[in-house]
Amino acid sequence: MTTIKAIEGLEILDSRGFPTVKARTILTDGTIGEAMVPSGASTGEHEALELRDGDQKRYFGKGVQTAINNLSGAISSALRGRSPFSQKEVDGILLELDGTPNKSKLGANAILGASLACAHAAAKSSRLELFEYLGAGTTLPVPLINVINGGAHADNSIDFQEFMLVPHKFEKFSEALRAAAEVFQTLKKRLKKDGLSTGIGDEGGFAPNLPSAESALNILCEAIADTGYESKISLALDVAASEFFKDGKYTLKKSTKEVLTSSGMVELLESLVKKFPIVSIEDGLSEDDWDGWKLLTERLGSTVQLVGDDLFVTNTKRLKRGIEERSANSILIKLNQIGTLTETIDAIKMAHDANMTAIISHRSGETEDTTIADLAVATNAGQIKTGSVCRSERTAKYNRLLEIETLLKDSVFGKPFPR
Ligand code: PGA
Ligand code: ZN
Repeated sequence: MTTIKAIEGLEILDSRGFPTVKARTILTDGTIGEAMVPSGASTGEHEALELRDGDQKRYFGKGVQTAINNLSGAISSALRGRSPFSQKEVDGILLELDGTPNKSKLGANAILGASLACAHAAAKSSRLELFEYLGAGTTLPVPLINVINGGAHADNSIDFQEFMLVPHKFEKFSEALRAAAEVFQTLKKRLKKDGLSTGIGDEGGFAPNLPSAESALNILCEAIADTGYESKISLALDVAASEFFKDGKYTLKKSTKEVLTSSGMVELLESLVKKFPIVSIEDGLSEDDWDGWKLLTERLGSTVQLVGDDLFVTNTKRLKRGIEERSANSILIKLNQIGTLTETIDAIKMAHDANMTAIISHRSGETEDTTIADLAVATNAGQIKTGSVCRSERTAKYNRLLEIETLLKDSVFGKPFPR
């Protein structure tokens, strides 16, 4: 029987030029599975711990050699001789070996690397595509394409972090992607014409200096209309409100300097939903503003997808509370927020069972790894968020989905959207 022979780690660079973890799982049949771990910038308080060396002489303390050593040391020893084909068992061993609530002993970056590299090796050894190995899904996800960057992802004057195109009214993923890419190019011309910067932010969206969220939405609507897709492309926001929440107040410090209460934020979002074709809002409020979230869902939840990212951090404990309190109607799924594939899939299942949507997501610091594309299809999530249609670490995921579309004979595109 094929078993795990060894796990190895390598310190590599992510898309921002900071170090991150690459893991390899080597099986006794000679198969090698590989995975690279992403890294966030607007990380939630309640995420699993990303282990950094703290040695100021290397990468300003951001090195990941301790995590790499954990992979080739304790993790490799614990998994040696075990079957790679039971992901639950592999992840159970990793959880037990770490033993902390937030994976602070071995590091969630080391643990996730091992977890994913084992899945890749098992799929390869079984001669299956990763999406086939991970589940029976056949749904190509609607992409939420981030074409204007702000917040912690860009040095510009916009407080909201992401302005996304949602090309949901198409027959096929490839058609939706083409339309969004056309809008992206039109948007570039438009910004240029208006004398605005066409430089890009961390996720490949443009990062112009615009006076407000409203002006960003206006320019996006114009670009969609100029390209002729008004009836087929809607909009989504990631406010990433935890980033500008302090002492009970939301301060739009990069743009209008407004200081808002929780209900003031809800009113602002409500007014934007009235003016623009917004179908989804992520982190409209801060990560521990549970009362605010409840109010937001009461006011907008029947028509708009309200997505908890920092709120839920892909953690079933926090998601359970959110389901009980009706805090949101959707969850953003980021593998490295929780640290194993099994726990990630558990969070997706819990959301689906509660009639919530689940959006599979990248991080702002990414690599050429495309696991999330396969995960989105395998779990029938129906939506993926993986940045703009430029920068190879973003397009790698879209390109993998284009490939999966050709591999799957009976695929469908998306799920009814909005809910
Ligand atoms: P992050 O941003 O990876 O920097 O956390 C992505 C997001 O907030 O969705
Ligand atoms: Zn977010």
